[in-house]
Amino acid sequence: MTNYMTGFGNEFATEAVPGALPVGRNSPQRAPLGLYAEQLSGTAFTAPRASNRRSWLYRIRPAAFAGGFSPQAHPYFHNRFAEAAATPDPLRWSPLPWPETPTDFVDGLFTMAGNGGPAAQSGVGIHLYAANASMQARVFYNADAEMLIVPQHGALRLVTELGVIEVEPQQIAVIPRGIRFRVELPDGPVRGYVCENFGALLKLPDLGPIGSNGLANPRDFETPVAAYEDVDDEVELVAKFQGALWRSTMEHSPLDVVAWHGNYAPYRYDLRRFNTIGSISYDHPDPSIFLVLHSSSDTPGVSNMDFAIFPPRWLVAQDTFRPPWFHRNVASEFMGLVHGVYDAKAEGFVPGGSSLHNSFTGHGPDRATFDKASAADLSRPDVIADTMAFMFETRAVLCPARQALDAPFRQQDYSECWRGLERHFQLP
Ligand SMILES: [Fe+2]
Repeated sequence: MTNYMTGFGNEFATEAVPGALPVGRNSPQRAPLGLYAEQLSGTAFTAPRASNRRSWLYRIRPAAFAGGFSPQAHPYFHNRFAEAAATPDPLRWSPLPWPETPTDFVDGLFTMAGNGGPAAQSGVGIHLYAANASMQARVFYNADAEMLIVPQHGALRLVTELGVIEVEPQQIAVIPRGIRFRVELPDGPVRGYVCENFGALLKLPDLGPIGSNGLANPRDFETPVAAYEDVDDEVELVAKFQGALWRSTMEHSPLDVVAWHGNYAPYRYDLRRFNTIGSISYDHPDPSIFLVLHSSSDTPGVSNMDFAIFPPRWLVAQDTFRPPWFHRNVASEFMGLVHGVYDAKAEGFVPGGSSLHNSFTGHGPDRATFDKASAADLSRPDVIADTMAFMFETRAVLCPARQALDAPFRQQDYSECWRGLERHFQLP
């Protein structure tokens, strides 16, 4: 059972042992209890105060350690987004198959698509994971990207330097760049999605005319209190650095932060707390009303990455095609389904599955959904009670990994779902 502190990007202060946090200064000549003081910076030192993120860690040993890294091969987890030609075809996949041998979270990552990269400090990497074993004597950190983890099946226990986060399907976790963590599976096998954000840190969107409340409310974001382990056994440290994995060994656990304060920290959010906004007259607003978190780009008004969800909601609009319309967007859309049924597809898009509609690729409801919604009785509201879909939307084209294009779980016949959309045009 973990305790959490609430708020988004707040200046938190937490100590697992009373007196471990120094008072009045960050780096006293001797930190309390014989701890080492260490600053962890997530933004440039001179970033404006509103966007400046850093934390001070008070730990048994500093993150610096004797020893070197050596490359570690991973057959399926990478950032090689140019290895296959991006296609304008709509793409869809069934869930990633379960592993047949003991596989932990890091070993169970499978790259699907991406753009940009860690060297450019923009873009995203999109991955699936399927695992059946806890990481043991093994700790991971990602120097390349903030990791947005979207569980679809099974709970994760994320034992991080700054505390323990427990997440289950319909919750998400965000682990900022550089923070070391171990993934444990308290309830057995897990499956889900990961978005590596190479760009600006995720933040809550502005609300404009919506006002001061709504969408994801800041108080529902939860950051864990300090927790540490004092273990002097050998631990493997796996680093993701410039698109590749590296490994080293340490003689002690790096998850030894006894106290910390600051605003650069992991957090979780329960998607079921999202305050969903929608039309109560006619038409759909744009899906930007479903935005949970976004990473801004260097261009005002254009995101590096948006994380949107399609949660349970009432549909009441009159003289309106109530499912999502047919559309083509300048942005590129990778979707997943955490739970239930997605209202734009009658079949084929199942929990754990994925779809990719790249820039200006036409898509929308399949024929069955179109026919049903076109004839629906609009005098009554519809409720979509049993659903939780999400989208990673990016400004740049998402290039599918070769292994995703060639995967046996890719649905080669996906575009057939629009075959048979009939001509209804009649001159008056
Ligand atoms: Fe779309």
